[in-house]
Amino acid sequence: MTESLTVRDNRTGVEYDIPITDGTIRAADLGKIKASEDNPGLAVYDPGFVNTASCRSSVTYIDGDKGVLEYRGYPIEQLAEKSSFLEVSYLLVHGALPTKEEYDAWVHEITFHTFVHENIKEFMQGFRYDAHPMGMLMASVGAMSTFYPDAANISDPDNRRLQIIRLIAKMPTLGAWAFRHAQGKPYVYPDNDLSYTGNFLSMLFKMSESKYASDDRIEKALDTLFILHADHEQNASANAVRSVGSTQVDPYSSVAAGVGALFGPLHGGANEAVLRMLRRIGKVENIPAFIEGVKAGNERLMGFGHRVYKNYDPRATIIKQQALNVFEVTGTNPLLNIAMELEKIALEDEYFVKRKLYPNVDFYSGLIYEALEFPPEMFTVLFAIGRTPGWLSQWLELVQDKEQKIARPKQIYTGERGLTFVPRDVRWA
Ligand SMILES: CC(C)(COP(=O)(O)OP(=O)(O)OC[C@H]1O[C@@H](n2cnc3c(N)ncnc32)[C@H](O)[C@@H]1OP(=O)(O)O)[C@@H](O)C(=O)NCCC(=O)NCCS
Repeated sequence: MTESLTVRDNRTGVEYDIPITDGTIRAADLGKIKASEDNPGLAVYDPGFVNTASCRSSVTYIDGDKGVLEYRGYPIEQLAEKSSFLEVSYLLVHGALPTKEEYDAWVHEITFHTFVHENIKEFMQGFRYDAHPMGMLMASVGAMSTFYPDAANISDPDNRRLQIIRLIAKMPTLGAWAFRHAQGKPYVYPDNDLSYTGNFLSMLFKMSESKYASDDRIEKALDTLFILHADHEQNASANAVRSVGSTQVDPYSSVAAGVGALFGPLHGGANEAVLRMLRRIGKVENIPAFIEGVKAGNERLMGFGHRVYKNYDPRATIIKQQALNVFEVTGTNPLLNIAMELEKIALEDEYFVKRKLYPNVDFYSGLIYEALEFPPEMFTVLFAIGRTPGWLSQWLELVQDKEQKIARPKQIYTGERGLTFVPRDVRWA
């Protein structure tokens, strides 16, 4: 039996049967409900698309109540523990795990596309000495469309694949150069002998040594963080990529829009707020007073709570373990003890339990980034590098989806109508 919804329009007394598919009704079916023939038809008002499905997607599955996150059906815990960022990128983009030959070819292609045109370096060097690295990343990703005008041919699968490889390969180069720029240090060219994260660390931190060698545990931690950030279904930046991509523009322009969305403090900035909070608490003895302040509604426990997860964010557990591994290398950070104690107290406190407030992905990630000596402005750049395969998988799905159209929401017009324009010289006379 097909599921349906019966709606009675009390303006006209007419009843409508609207089919329900996958727990949704089609907005176009509501549009058939009209108070009169010249009425535009019923629409839904949904600022922020909180309860509106904008696409059918097979990339990422989230069950926030149960704390489940899966990429292409594989639980994030298994991918974080047993896979690598490049394998996860392959999985996201292609929809299935690679064979050995496919994996080797993928890694090889990405490794040999890490260099960017010298002109990109030159224009990046033109940014002000203190330019925010996210602004530099957004601009340089967008500018890549001018270096690869062939990318505009989005209907050719081989061409799409080439641009996807270029983007995944070059994002660390652009991100690392934006970091070096702020530090007034020379840009470091990619080292294609190194792994994806090993090369990224080299471009970030190499000085006069002939070869940069990073600790395996640091490489693994960064690789894991990239995996954890690789996709999160229709979040604000994926929506920005899809919305811009729906105009059929090239993927560099679409990804630049994603970087712009991620730059916003409501999206990519929470881990920095966690660090500020931990510093303010200062020592373990101050935690009870801080918690009382949160419960009194004076402030929020940053890194706790999530719009979707009403359970432990599955990524938080994995990040916590990686934080412990990183501190083995870098030496412990006193803020870690405060974070762990804060988590322990909050998880037992009725205020947080009742509201289903658990640590989210940002609770420990800032600590790791700080231990690796990244300034807070770089945290979101790292997020953007990790999110690139997710954005591209969403983009690829979009451009192949016959049901998709140019993203163009409706509005409820609340302004004036039919005014008579009086020219300036008459108005100001
Ligand atoms: C992420 C967040 C914006 C989600 O918000 P939301 O889904 O709109 O949840 P609400 O704001 O409706 O919160 C529900 C209740 O929990 C409380 N709450 C939510 N997050 C809280 C937090 N971090 N600390 C203390 N109380 C919190 C709210 O005050 C509210 O309580 P009330 O019912 O007594 O009014 C929110 O949890 C938050 O601000 N967290 C801290 C910032 C953060 O870590 N962001 C990163 C997200 S990845």
